[in-house]
Amino acid sequence: MLSSTRELLETARRNAYAIGAFNVYNLEGVKAVVNAAEISRSPAMLQLHPSALKYGKLPLVRMCIEAAKSANVPISIHLDHSTSAADIRLALDAGVRSIMADGSPMPYKENLRFTRDMTAISHKFHAIVEAEIGRISGTEDGLTIAEKEAKMTDPLQALEFVQQTKVDALAVTIGNVHGEYKSPPRLDFARLEKIRSLVDIPLVLHGASGLPKEMIERSIQLGVCKFNVNTEVRQAYMQSLKLEICGDSPKDLLEIAGEAIAAMQEVIIDKLNLFGSVGKA
Ligand code: G3H
Ligand code: 13P
Ligand code: ZN
Ligand code: NA
Repeated sequence: MLSSTRELLETARRNAYAIGAFNVYNLEGVKAVVNAAEISRSPAMLQLHPSALKYGKLPLVRMCIEAAKSANVPISIHLDHSTSAADIRLALDAGVRSIMADGSPMPYKENLRFTRDMTAISHKFHAIVEAEIGRISGTEDGLTIAEKEAKMTDPLQALEFVQQTKVDALAVTIGNVHGEYKSPPRLDFARLEKIRSLVDIPLVLHGASGLPKEMIERSIQLGVCKFNVNTEVRQAYMQSLKLEICGDSPKDLLEIAGEAIAAMQEVIIDKLNLFGSVGKA
C-alpha cells in the first residue's frame, strides 16, 4: 500500500529500526524493491534521484506510485537530493509526498533559505521534507582530517537549521560517503549523539552502500531511522546484465530482466535485514 514517509519513519523510530530508501531508475528497480519488501514483510521507500526523474519523467513517478499502491506492504515514494524548485514542484504535482530539498551544495545561508522555502511549499501539499547540512561527497580520498571535519554536520548549526526551516527530517554528514568507501568507513558517532541530543526529528544517513552491520546498528541506536542505498543495488543490476548478456548461454530479454531483478532483490533483502525492518509490515 502507498504509505506516507512520516508514518514509516515515526513507526521505525518508535520501534528502534530504520527504513531502507532505495534509488530506482526503471521498472526492474521498482519490482526489485517491492518484491524484496513483500518477501521480507518490510516497509520500504522507492527513491527517485533527479537524474532518474530526468530520465523517466512522469511515467516513472506514476509507475512508482502504482507499484506502491498494489504492494501488500507499506511503501512510500521520495524525491532524493533535489536542488531544483522545478523538480520539487513537478514531483509534488505528480503526487510525491516526500521530498529531499537538498541545499547542502549551497553556502549555509542559501541552504537555509532554499530549505525554508521548499519546506513551506511542500507542507502546503502535506508532503514531508528532508534536508541536509554538512556536505556528503563522493570518495573522501586525499582530504585532511580538518577538511573532512569541515564538511561534517555541525550539531549547533543543525539545531538552528531545523528550527528556522521547519524541516521534518535531517540528513547528517558524519563521515558517510556516496558510492564505495575507498578506505574503511569511519563514522563520527560522538557527533551523531550530539546532533540527536539537540535535534528531535528523524535523522537520515545517506551513502549506506558499504557500511558494515555494526555501524548501521550503532547509527540506529543513535537516532537514524532512514538509510539511503543506491550503489550496491546498481552494481548488482549491472553485474547481472553483464553476466547474462555475455555469458555462455545468452538469454532472452525478459529472462535477463528477471535475473537482474533477482540480483537487486537479494541485495535489498540483505539491507532490510541490516536495518531491522524485516517482519515489521
Ligand atoms: O545520492 C545518490 C545518487 O543517486 C548518486 O549515487 O553514489 O551511486 O553516484 P552514486
Ligand atoms: P550509496 O550510493 O552509497 O548507497 O548512497 C545512496 C544515497 O545516499 C542516495 O541518496
Ligand atoms: Zn544521498
Ligand atoms: Na556509500
